[in-house]
Amino acid sequence: MKRREFIKNTGLGTGSIIAGSSALTFLAACKKNNMMNGSGMNMSGQPVPVTEGSFSRLLPIPNTVTGNTTLTAQATMANINGSNISALGYQANGILGPTIRVNNGVNANINFQNNLSEKSNIHWHGLKIPANMDGHPEAVINSGSGFNYQFAINQRAGLCWYHPHPEGATARQAFQGLAGLFIINDAEEAALNMPSGIYEIPLVIQDKRLTASGIAYNPSMGEVMSGYMGETIIVNGEASPYTEVATRYYRLRILNGSNARIYNLALSNNADLIIIGNDGGLLKNPATVKTILLAPGERLDVLVNFAGLTIGTEVYLESRMFDNGGSAQGKQGFKIMKFKITQTLSDSFTLPVALSAVNSIPASSSSKTRNFIINAMQMSGGMNMTGIHRINDKTYDKNRIDENVSANATEIWVFDNSQGDEPHPMHLHGVHFQVLERSGGRGQLTVSESGWKDTVLVMPRETVKIIIPFSTLTGVFVFHCHNLEHEDDGMMLQYQLT
Ligand code: C2O
Ligand code: CU
Ligand code: CU
Repeated sequence: MKRREFIKNTGLGTGSIIAGSSALTFLAACKKNNMMNGSGMNMSGQPVPVTEGSFSRLLPIPNTVTGNTTLTAQATMANINGSNISALGYQANGILGPTIRVNNGVNANINFQNNLSEKSNIHWHGLKIPANMDGHPEAVINSGSGFNYQFAINQRAGLCWYHPHPEGATARQAFQGLAGLFIINDAEEAALNMPSGIYEIPLVIQDKRLTASGIAYNPSMGEVMSGYMGETIIVNGEASPYTEVATRYYRLRILNGSNARIYNLALSNNADLIIIGNDGGLLKNPATVKTILLAPGERLDVLVNFAGLTIGTEVYLESRMFDNGGSAQGKQGFKIMKFKITQTLSDSFTLPVALSAVNSIPASSSSKTRNFIINAMQMSGGMNMTGIHRINDKTYDKNRIDENVSANATEIWVFDNSQGDEPHPMHLHGVHFQVLERSGGRGQLTVSESGWKDTVLVMPRETVKIIIPFSTLTGVFVFHCHNLEHEDDGMMLQYQLT
């Protein structure tokens, strides 16, 4: 259903406003008018529940390539949960692209070939690279054409990723399979002698809506509100997989590559998750937790220690229920994947006390504070209305620069969801930032919000303040909610660095 028909049918009419910014009001209107037809949302506005699989299929590990490579976006087949279905991929026979692994300081030269039947492009999420290589929503490559992404890697070690970013089609293309990891290594990280090789496991966690023949993407109005979620949790492209491990430390490099679903990660034996890094690389010191939230677009670098477990033990990575997630998130706990202990090994790894030099940027170094209201549900403008999800009551307009920022400036940006009732993982292109403060909702920062970030979760009722040292990479970049349905609905603005 088109939004304008929806507005007409709900009797909201031209130029009307939903006062009070309440998604519940909106959902009530949906229900009253029988808009939620069961395609993913039930009448109480809850997303489809997760269906756990059998944990009997092996965890695939994406192949690794260098920064000189070709990525061909294409319609292909993927074997997921034992069925061969059609999907989109950056290589044939599978949904995820290769993991690109580079050292800091190298020049990447990635030849993108668009063999999709529609426009696409690649955004390098987490990379601090020039605007013309960043995969801006308007910098798209036509079907059948190619583009050479060339950029120098000039940032500390960390786990980044890549995905399509064409205006209005990011969510669908990503959901149908287009994504991949991008790992940067450097000397500081190497000196720590972290678990590596088979002991360093990349985990791309996603939820998909599987049909007999493919991956369905058809969000209802309710799912534009909540974000589109799937009943099947996949890791590295396989549903409910398992992997065999030894009794030692492992380094898990985790990406939440889902469109909308937030995970509250934990181990089923309640073992420690030792958080050593996040979006922007290593933390200053390891931080040990039992559970940790991971929103779409965010990454975690986690050590887990299977020492002391007997052969045959099974430990699940799971997502536990959580509070503060609004009406559509955190209401269900489920298993994600299984670790099966199959080998006894002694391990000489010792956890370093200090990981990396991370200097906190003092709030006093900011030259400007910008406030962004992200709970907007005001629907004004009648037939010109372009989105339910807004930032400062605006939706994305390619012809409008929303914020002008001076090169090299340091600024505080405030994402205010204090009146909102949906979670919004807010992401900035072109920069890494530090999180200064969270008020309302959870009322504090999590351990993975120290150090450097490029995506920060703003839960309902929360206001989150970040500090951003901008670079000299002048040009036009976007910032947006990384709930990809919200993003495609227009919850994205542009800043220009001059
Ligand atoms: Cu991963 Cu503009 O996003
Ligand atoms: Cu990004
Ligand atoms: Cu959002």
